[in-house]
Amino acid sequence: METKQFPDNFLWGVATSAYQIEGAPLADGAGPSDWHQFTRENGRIVDGGNGDVACDHYNRYDDDIRLIAELGVGAYRFSVSWSRIFPQGVGPKNPKGLDFYDRLVDGLLARGIEPFLTLHHWDLPAALAARGGWLNRDSSEWFGEYAHTLFRALKDRVRFWTTHNEPWVVMHNGYVKGVHPPGRADLSQAATTAHNLLRAHGRAVQAFRADPTGKIGVVVNLEPKDPASGDPRDIAAANAADAYMNRFFLDPLLLGSYPKELPPLFGAAWPAFPEDDMRLIREPFDYLGVNYYTRSVNRADPAVAPDGAAPVRQQDSTYTEMGWEVHSQGLARTLLWLKQRYGDIALFVTENGAAFADPPEERGAIRDHARVDYLRGHLRAAHQAIGEGVNLQGYFVWSLFDNFEWTFGYTKRFGVLGVDFATQRRTPKLSAEFYRETVGSRGRNLFT
Ligand code: FCB
Repeated sequence: METKQFPDNFLWGVATSAYQIEGAPLADGAGPSDWHQFTRENGRIVDGGNGDVACDHYNRYDDDIRLIAELGVGAYRFSVSWSRIFPQGVGPKNPKGLDFYDRLVDGLLARGIEPFLTLHHWDLPAALAARGGWLNRDSSEWFGEYAHTLFRALKDRVRFWTTHNEPWVVMHNGYVKGVHPPGRADLSQAATTAHNLLRAHGRAVQAFRADPTGKIGVVVNLEPKDPASGDPRDIAAANAADAYMNRFFLDPLLLGSYPKELPPLFGAAWPAFPEDDMRLIREPFDYLGVNYYTRSVNRADPAVAPDGAAPVRQQDSTYTEMGWEVHSQGLARTLLWLKQRYGDIALFVTENGAAFADPPEERGAIRDHARVDYLRGHLRAAHQAIGEGVNLQGYFVWSLFDNFEWTFGYTKRFGVLGVDFATQRRTPKLSAEFYRETVGSRGRNLFT
């Protein structure tokens, strides 16, 4: 009988990001980030929360590494806070900021955990935001310099590097919906931001190649866009939504041009980008990270800019606390679609997980059955995709901890470890136990 298991060398991990867990944002000479400032503006965050303390990981990292090790995982995906390294974004470095990540990396390696490092998971030095942030064409040089500094400091120990996490969200939430910094709604700025994020990625990849070791990639958020009906208008809206979210960044990165749908969707707001930039953007990289949470079903609605697609709730589906449909098959579809459209590039699922209202702790246990079901379904879908020939090399649960969920503050819990934010006590949930078994059996437990 065929045993259903993941490959031997499959990388199992858990994921976090700097601003969401570290706390102590100004410690040891760090400069403020745009998120530090944004959370101080009235009404930006639903519960008024911010990253001042978060999971206090900056102080507790050593204990936290032990908790990661107890999960039995082989890798930990985290991000670096740029403004700890360069308090002003560029110019003088802050050695103490670098020391923190140096100790973190050494601590991980001492326990046999592979560091999987993201350079930019949304927090930008406030000093650079004041100079236009990603709207400034110089941002690619700023980012290149920051990346180069980290490569020099950590490339001898860190094998896996990511340039950006979810650049689409930086663009869409920051410049279309205005719910992330800098809180704008301006399509032309959105397009320019996307373009400069892509240029910055290219610059960092070029700097990475100065020495031939290690792997570098980029992490995108993807979701299948299904039409709500067979009406040609709904079908066209779903296609536009697909171009806008799924192909906006991947087409230029891997095919060398923006999806043809985008200029008409943006109209006069679509800038005339210098043709030469496309060469920098297309700089070859080593792997693609996919953050997968849900799919969306869309109907045409011209009032929604820029893609004219409005999500429709599905009667018979389960939804998470984020209002995201649980749809595990969409993960297999997404992975297969990537292979078919972009070829056999190495893939990692760099985030997958769910926010649910967890039951209260009972005799030291949080029985988050809904999260276990969610993870089991998606891990099966990942396994299925491998069986169908997808080059999937690893999987990371979002998230190690309950943490600061951006606009939602501390109201949405994604962790496999529960965090009591009053005491900072961490409590493994049932999902932590489930994931430990999954890693230990290479997924055999998913099929029993
Ligand atoms: C992703 C982000 C991550 C977290 C999850 C829930 O979009 O990359 O930081 O917020 O969603």
